[in-house]
Amino acid sequence: MKPSGTGLSRGLTDYGDREFSLYLRRTFAKSMGFSDAMLERPIVGIATAGGGFNNCHRTTPELVAAVSRGVLTAGGLPLDFPTISLGEPFLSPTSLVFRNLMAMDVEEMIRAQPMDAVVLIGGCDKTLPAQLMGAISANKPAIALVVGPMMTGSFEGTRLGACTDCRSWWARFRAGELSEERIRGVESNLATTAGTCAVMGTASTMACVTEALGMSLPGAATPPAVHAERLRVAEATGARAVALARDDVTPDQIVTPAAVENALRVLFALGGSTNGIIHLTAIAGRRGIPLTLQRFNELSADTPVLVNLKPVGDHYMEHFHAAGGVGALLRELAPLLNRDTVSVAGETLDERLAHVPAYVDRTVIRPFGEPIVARDALVALFGNLAPNGAILKAAAADPRLMEHDGRAVVFRDLADLAARIDAPDLDVEPDDVLVLQHAGPVGAGMPEAGYLPIPKKLLARGVRDMLRISDARMSGTAYGAIVLHVSPESALGGPLAAVRNGDRIRVSLREKRLDVVLTDAEIAARIEQFVSPAPPRRGYAKLYAQHILGPERGCDFDFLTSEGTAE
Ligand code: FES
Repeated sequence: MKPSGTGLSRGLTDYGDREFSLYLRRTFAKSMGFSDAMLERPIVGIATAGGGFNNCHRTTPELVAAVSRGVLTAGGLPLDFPTISLGEPFLSPTSLVFRNLMAMDVEEMIRAQPMDAVVLIGGCDKTLPAQLMGAISANKPAIALVVGPMMTGSFEGTRLGACTDCRSWWARFRAGELSEERIRGVESNLATTAGTCAVMGTASTMACVTEALGMSLPGAATPPAVHAERLRVAEATGARAVALARDDVTPDQIVTPAAVENALRVLFALGGSTNGIIHLTAIAGRRGIPLTLQRFNELSADTPVLVNLKPVGDHYMEHFHAAGGVGALLRELAPLLNRDTVSVAGETLDERLAHVPAYVDRTVIRPFGEPIVARDALVALFGNLAPNGAILKAAAADPRLMEHDGRAVVFRDLADLAARIDAPDLDVEPDDVLVLQHAGPVGAGMPEAGYLPIPKKLLARGVRDMLRISDARMSGTAYGAIVLHVSPESALGGPLAAVRNGDRIRVSLREKRLDVVLTDAEIAARIEQFVSPAPPRRGYAKLYAQHILGPERGCDFDFLTSEGTAE
């Protein structure tokens, strides 16, 4: 057999003799027991991200088996390979720090190994964005398969799902309403099956966004991890990957500006995770598609929230699936969508909408004209505190705090927050604004610490929401009057670093403003005294600190965007 540039002969190891390289590769491939006929087939790589540190991905082996079944049936050769796995609760300081590392791993392994298409099996928060970012940059035919969401559990007759309920029950425990024994009982019933968090958190948001983007099969986002439909979707995904390889359908044909805007509309209509904004921006950035916060606000202004899932609403992913899933939602949003976009299924959105099943459960997916929130569920704020923008999930906040003027109570970093938030002598009142500094991408790896806890002394007085501002992120499963992603971040001398205890802070959802009541000269004088933290001296931490972009650029590395050059 002559080297032909597809299948096993794609991207040969360089020994200076291509025929020898192929002969050697076939020799070692045969050691796995493959016949000559198998080795002639198109190769579908299956990128896996499982492991003992990733509870969400524990069904990966059976998904690989089902994908492989589909690939073999369609005439391909399935070969799975591991990449970094990012199990959200098991990573320090935060999983976001490692998303770009995983994206590099995925991109380089897709490019380096001889595959004609790739199936990306992921789901836990950062894994799916990382896989899409890497696959888009590699630009070989690719299709995503999420592991699927968890099923809910129950405690003392109350339904529980990770992880919105994790937070509400923990807040009750902090307020002294729950014994140690009962919170342990809750802990044992919050996450009871394989799969990703059961609410509309980041994993679920990105699963649905990926389907709306066209990078997974219709109906692929919502079947629970332990549902038989999940395996049928996996088999169909494997079969479809062979067709993508044969037709050379690459991600640049799928991820277009029109598809990105559809995905953003869906994110809004889901009442989706704020992290999803960062990830979609980074994914689009790999194709050179700008997703500005100004355009973000334009789309948010006329996109209603229609899906009644926690943390914005009442239900869980298993209900969204049973209610009709992403297909039913797309049908509601159809007037707002670009319907000539094409998905990995090979059909336009218009063609897909023609065969979406008629059934829809209106308690979970509202009609377009009867939304949960009519507009501005997620907004970008600008002002002297956030010249490059900040994000507010207004749909999950106390409306009373959406036009607010309060006194700043400042925590200079995460350690300071942990040390003082529950101190009995903390000078804080319910109308104050909690401010956390140095929690941005460079300052602390942008942890999900933007959901600052309500001080215990206020919890005891019945306070359940306060305005909180930081350059950190928030879990997609969290809720409250929380302003996030303030940019430029304080560790880089952004205006957030200038805020001191007692300053007045103003937030206006109506005007989309975030300001501190200080003159520009006062802010500049305070920042003048600011001392940047010492940069890391080696390894990935050094690479990260030197190249990480702000949240308005998706926190990608400057050299990995489509421009691919350091600034
Ligand atoms: Fe994996 Fe929530 S811990 S999605």
